[in-house]
Amino acid sequence: MHAKIMGTGSYLPDNQVTNHYISTLVDTSDEWIKERTGIASRHISTGETTVEMAAAAGKKALEDAGIGALDVDLIIVATVSADHLLPSTACSVQKELGAVNAAAFDINAACSGFLFALNIADSYIQTGMCRTALLIGVETLSKITNWNDRNTCILFGDGAGAAVITASETPGFMAGIQGSDGARGHVLSCRGRTTDNPFADGDLSLGYIYMDGPEVFKFAVKKVPECIQEVLEKGNRNLEDVSLFLLHQANFRIIKSIAHRLRLPLEKFPVNVDECGNTSAASVPILLDETNKKGLLHSGELVVLAGFGAGLTWGAALLEW
Ligand code: UT7
Repeated sequence: MHAKIMGTGSYLPDNQVTNHYISTLVDTSDEWIKERTGIASRHISTGETTVEMAAAAGKKALEDAGIGALDVDLIIVATVSADHLLPSTACSVQKELGAVNAAAFDINAACSGFLFALNIADSYIQTGMCRTALLIGVETLSKITNWNDRNTCILFGDGAGAAVITASETPGFMAGIQGSDGARGHVLSCRGRTTDNPFADGDLSLGYIYMDGPEVFKFAVKKVPECIQEVLEKGNRNLEDVSLFLLHQANFRIIKSIAHRLRLPLEKFPVNVDECGNTSAASVPILLDETNKKGLLHSGELVVLAGFGAGLTWGAALLEW
């Protein structure tokens, strides 16, 4: 039995924010942002919630797969920007979609979240725990972004991407790897509530994303090529066998450096960071949906997905489309 992606979907807020606009908020410029990141604009919520965006992307993925909400028996949402601590985003999406037969839960593996969700779904399908899973990566990073911090506010965007993965006779998910290094968690973090109760005085101020950009950059350009090689080894395939590499969209310079290190043409790395910025857990599934809808994924061809981010975490998947 294989686990195969049968449909994809995505949702991006209509509100597109340019670098020019951001340069009215902080000391930066369109030239600097484009040159250092490749980002020209990003979609920012004008009120769409994390649940609304996730449900919209999920609905499109179900339509694309040609199945109904009742067919879904597992919903996993990867996010770091849930609307509520409880219930989970996945349970709220279940309610929105009427997917009453599904078990639903969230995971937090930051920008690697969709890769971790794929691994979980594959394991559930292989062990008979489920047949059809709806996987969603969604972020409203704009609400945990400090809009006065030029180190971070230029980078992030909002949006959601989704995929339906189901038990299939034909090949699909071939190999997955994942990893974490909690000792380096401090380089990319966002504080939640601290303990504030009758016995402890907490800090009730809001936490925002903090990032040591250069450290994360160095981690990404070393770790992602390693994990791509590792997943290919696990799947008994070579770099040359792969048609497309869909990477977490954090910075165009990171993508270029990874392609260079792997000695692969940049054309094999679809990009949307220019229009979406970094949407963390949503980035890989949004790019997957865009690539799918453009007709660039052909049956029988191999695709590698890879993500990296806070935790630190990383993950990669080898798929036969
Ligand atoms: O999804 C999670 C993963 N996150 C990432 O992958 C992010 C990885 N890191 C990066 O993409 C890059 O490190 C950044 C884009 C965040 C920063 O680019 P950089 O080339 O590493 O710049 P830097 O932080 O080393 O800063 C270089 C200079 C500094 O000025 P001085 O000290 O050289 O005078 C900064 O103060 O650029 C300055 N700077 C800016 N200038 C204009 C930093 N941010 C800005 C800005 N506009 N927005």
